[in-house]
Amino acid sequence: EPATPPGPLKDTSAKLVNDKAHPWKPLAPGDIRGPCPGLNTLASHGWLPRNGIASPAQIVEAVQEGFNMENSLAFFVTYGAHLVDGNLLTDKLSIGGKTSLTGPNPPAPAIAGGLNTHAVFEGDTSMTRADFFFGDNHDFNETLFDEMVKFANKFGAGKYNLTVAGEFRWQRIQDSIATNPTMSFVSPRYYTAYAESVFPLNFFIDGRQTDGQLDMTVARGFFQNSRMPDDFFRANGTRASEGFDDVVAAHPIQPGRNVDRVNNYVLDPTSADFSVPGSCPLYTTFVNQTVRSLYPTPTGALRSALNKNLDFFFQGVNGSGCTQIFPFGTD
Ligand code: HEM
Ligand code: MG
Repeated sequence: EPATPPGPLKDTSAKLVNDKAHPWKPLAPGDIRGPCPGLNTLASHGWLPRNGIASPAQIVEAVQEGFNMENSLAFFVTYGAHLVDGNLLTDKLSIGGKTSLTGPNPPAPAIAGGLNTHAVFEGDTSMTRADFFFGDNHDFNETLFDEMVKFANKFGAGKYNLTVAGEFRWQRIQDSIATNPTMSFVSPRYYTAYAESVFPLNFFIDGRQTDGQLDMTVARGFFQNSRMPDDFFRANGTRASEGFDDVVAAHPIQPGRNVDRVNNYVLDPTSADFSVPGSCPLYTTFVNQTVRSLYPTPTGALRSALNKNLDFFFQGVNGSGCTQIFPFGTD
């Protein structure tokens, strides 16, 4: 029975979140971290269980309390990830690699492999993590971070800002097209890549700061060390994907993938894209294709858990006028 996630925060003001109750601690043996600097940081400050295994309800609570992430986005991202990477029977998700700590395997083709799992949520062209093709899609990559600093110097006077976000996103896409023969940039990655380009601006900048300029030493703390600056205040008011459209508009590209070799980016007109605005195309294809490919014929407790988690996932787009879909029937 999946735990019920919290609703919106009552008090969304900026406040100290690197506080006495949530000190940064180095990893203990066995602690798991993964490709998301936001969740890594929440775990290393004890807003999430420090071992890196959490229920989706705990994740929604932590991203709201720790970073002021807006409630529907928190639902959408958390339940999207849990549906494809989590163990639906035990209600546990690894924020990194696969582990027995999330419980016994569901039947194949389900993976329940944690956020490191390639292609169902995690994908190519990440800013500070290499493409899966190169062998490690989840650890901090110094070469990539150095490139991010270079872009901050070139386009942002040393800071990461919206202009840098647009230029660096494009650079990461072009770099993957040129070097990764398996490069894929279709839904859901087509959407999450743009969202993640603005998350550092919306969540890693101190809530008392209003200039939209992320210091690169602060950025390194989050991306590399899962660490908030001393005295860090969360955003002042909820944040979601503000800036997304600007990053897209800086260098538009249609969904596609390299076919068989590098520099062979072929468009995929079957992927959800921005021709229909908003998250409904992403929602629909994620449920009908990504989730169903992992759970073709679920029964019993598994089917019931899927349906509950799909309901929470839909709550993440409710209000955007999407039509809810029920691939496994209704209870
Ligand atoms: C990347 C999951 C919330 C910041 C990722 C990735 C996953 C993920 C799977 C890897 C995608 C990839 O780059 O290939 C989640 C889930 C969340 C969540 C399930 C639950 C709400 C947050 C929050 C923040 C954040 C609250 C910021 C405080 C980022 C950033 C990246 C990222 C900046 C891109 C890393 C990079 O490109 O190097 N997230 N995330 N995420 N996440 Fe999260
Ligand atoms: Mg990635």
